Amino acid sequence: MKRLLVSTMILTGAALTFTTQAASLYAGKSKAAAVCAQCHGVRSTSAEAPFPPLAGRDEEYLEMALKQYRDKTRISDIMNNIAGSLTDRDINNIADYYSKQKP
Ligand code: HEC
Repeated sequence: MKRLLVSTMILTGAALTFTTQAASLYAGKSKAAAVCAQCHGVRSTSAEAPFPPLAGRDEEYLEMALKQYRDKTRISDIMNNIAGSLTDRDINNIADYYSKQKP
């Protein structure tokens, strides 16, 4: 609960200070919640899930991985499908969002 409060305060503060930054974080968050969280979770996957966790991972790594899935230079039936419909902007927003989550 305390953790939730602190992150809410941080997000609110960010929204007030850096409008554009908060907008992309928000876009990343809604995309992640709508699409990615089904498999990857938001903070972490459930222990029995076979999906790699994304929270707190390096932003550049996440971007690179998503672009590789999109270009099909990294093969995964599931992720090739999902990343295929992401724009560069989506990828930026999502990588930004997940890299800022506490694992
Ligand atoms: C239907 C389930 C599913 C959904 C939805 C899904 N993924 Fe994945 N994701 C996977 C699986 C399975 C893998 C492992 C694939 C592999 O072996 O390369 C994976 C791998 C990844 C990786 C590589 C992680 C690593 O450690 O290298 C990234 C990054 C990733 N997903 C991001 C996303 C993002 C962002 C979204 C939402 C836009 C998303 N995924 C939605 C199933 C899913």
